Amino acid sequence: MSSRKQDVAPGRLDHIGVAVRSLEDALAPYKDGLGLIVSEIEEVPTEKVRVAFLPVGETRLELLEPTADDSTIARFLQRRGEGIHHLCFQVDDIEAVLKRLKKAGVELVDEKPRAGAGGSRVAFIHPRGMAGVLVELVEKEQV
Ligand code: CO
Repeated sequence: MSSRKQDVAPGRLDHIGVAVRSLEDALAPYKDGLGLIVSEIEEVPTEKVRVAFLPVGETRLELLEPTADDSTIARFLQRRGEGIHHLCFQVDDIEAVLKRLKKAGVELVDEKPRAGAGGSRVAFIHPRGMAGVLVELVEKEQV
């Protein structure tokens, strides 16, 4: 294995995205039953979702509730119902990973990274090329 390949491999699973109809209803069993704690709830108007994060060790659950009928999460819920929506991997160099995926012929949702939360950059990979799993990449702001 080349060291270059190692360089652009994801460092960790940043979060697991779960599509839900109602944050309040969905959070109850995760909080009161499983004992997880909500670290933050925020609205992302550009994605038309309200999001709750629940840390679990090195990773987090990201519960996503649609705030409009035309949000991608609303459409997902209509088609598939509630459930796991995407996996998000943290990478050091998002452009290098996108380049390698493209070279490997993997269909991308985002050819270029876009702005994510807290100064991060994110990009999605189409589930068709990832065994049916929508994959998100995140490169955190370097501090
Ligand atoms: Co996500």
